[in-house]
Amino acid sequence: MTVKAQTPVITNPSLYDVEAIRKDFPILQTYVHGKPLVYLDNAATSQKPISVIRKAQEYYSTMNSNIHRGVHALSGVSTEAFETARIKIKKFINALGKNEIIFTRGATESINLVAQTFGRSNLNEGDEVIISEMEHHSNIVPWQLICNEKKAKLKVIPINDDGELILEEYEKLLSDRTKIVSVVYCSNSLGTVNPVRKIIKAAHKKGIPVLIDAAQAVNHLHIDVQELDCDFLVFSGHKIYGPTGIGVLYGKVNLLDSMPPYQGGGDMISKVTFEKTTYNELPHKFEAGTPNIAGAIGLGEAIDYVSRIGIGNISLHEKELLDYATEAVQSVPGLKIIGTASEKVSVLSFVLDDVHPHDIGTFLDFEGIAIRTGHHCTQPVMDRFKIPATSRASFAMYNTTEEIDVLVNGLNKIIKVFG
Ligand code: ALA
Repeated sequence: MTVKAQTPVITNPSLYDVEAIRKDFPILQTYVHGKPLVYLDNAATSQKPISVIRKAQEYYSTMNSNIHRGVHALSGVSTEAFETARIKIKKFINALGKNEIIFTRGATESINLVAQTFGRSNLNEGDEVIISEMEHHSNIVPWQLICNEKKAKLKVIPINDDGELILEEYEKLLSDRTKIVSVVYCSNSLGTVNPVRKIIKAAHKKGIPVLIDAAQAVNHLHIDVQELDCDFLVFSGHKIYGPTGIGVLYGKVNLLDSMPPYQGGGDMISKVTFEKTTYNELPHKFEAGTPNIAGAIGLGEAIDYVSRIGIGNISLHEKELLDYATEAVQSVPGLKIIGTASEKVSVLSFVLDDVHPHDIGTFLDFEGIAIRTGHHCTQPVMDRFKIPATSRASFAMYNTTEEIDVLVNGLNKIIKVFG
């Protein structure tokens, strides 16, 4: 398929041209079950603009070579492209230095890295790790693993009926035994935007570091790690229009320096003998083995794309979509929204009386509509709301109100069929 990149540079939000943006995403021109694709599963993964798709092809066609190793020309080219991507990410989240940007496979691996290095060296019997009730499993299980090993305790910030963190309870949990607070910026199943600045400030008053899981935030909100003053921040490339299998761990340099390596292997060493190994400097100390070079370069390209549109403009467009959808689904009999926080990103989770989410997802699929159904890797959230699952529509920069109308029509058809 030949698709011409159309990316408009938008400096004025009123000029946001969603149709021009849609033309940059080849998959949005396709059909599912004979119907135009209505892709509303963006919290699971976002679609990719043609510039990102082409970058992977360009890499393998013209640059493919291992990085940081060869003296030959191609190795120099791929190393330069890989390190340029790191600098783009550093600028995008306003890290102090590029050595604070560690490439990983994704947010999950980034959290496991911190749990297994910072956690293993700092947690002792009786110590505590604070997470919240709305964490994705990837910000629960890595901490459970290390807490079990170290006989440390996991403490959980509860959420209210709107799906917001109860901050007074959080403050009560902070103690001299707390070694780290690790919380999600935006909930993938509820859409809640958490007051991370307050969370970070309260922890820092007691000298406790904070990890922010920005997997569902980095594609919606402007992130400045220096302004947030978080100690670690993680995200995945594929949620921000980049490739799968690439992600980022940001860490303050003094913390990363103090942590032991995560995995051993090539590139992370300075000198190896059988008696003793010394490690490479940051960020390479945490990047053992050949990384996902094409993925990192593709992520850099995705960040260029998002920057051209402007994350503020994307936020405004998505807020309009969320407001429109929240209003529109009120017309569906028996529909209840799960997650009614005052501040939300464009995630709409809901249940329908007497219709299982799995049936909703399957029915909508035949209408060409992709949503996610299930527990969304947040089983404790489902337990909190005493439901087995939700249906979740999640919107991205390229979605339209017309697509939301298609969703609402689909839901109304379900009500007719299922009575
Ligand atoms: N964490 C992703 C989601 O929320 C996969 O769907």
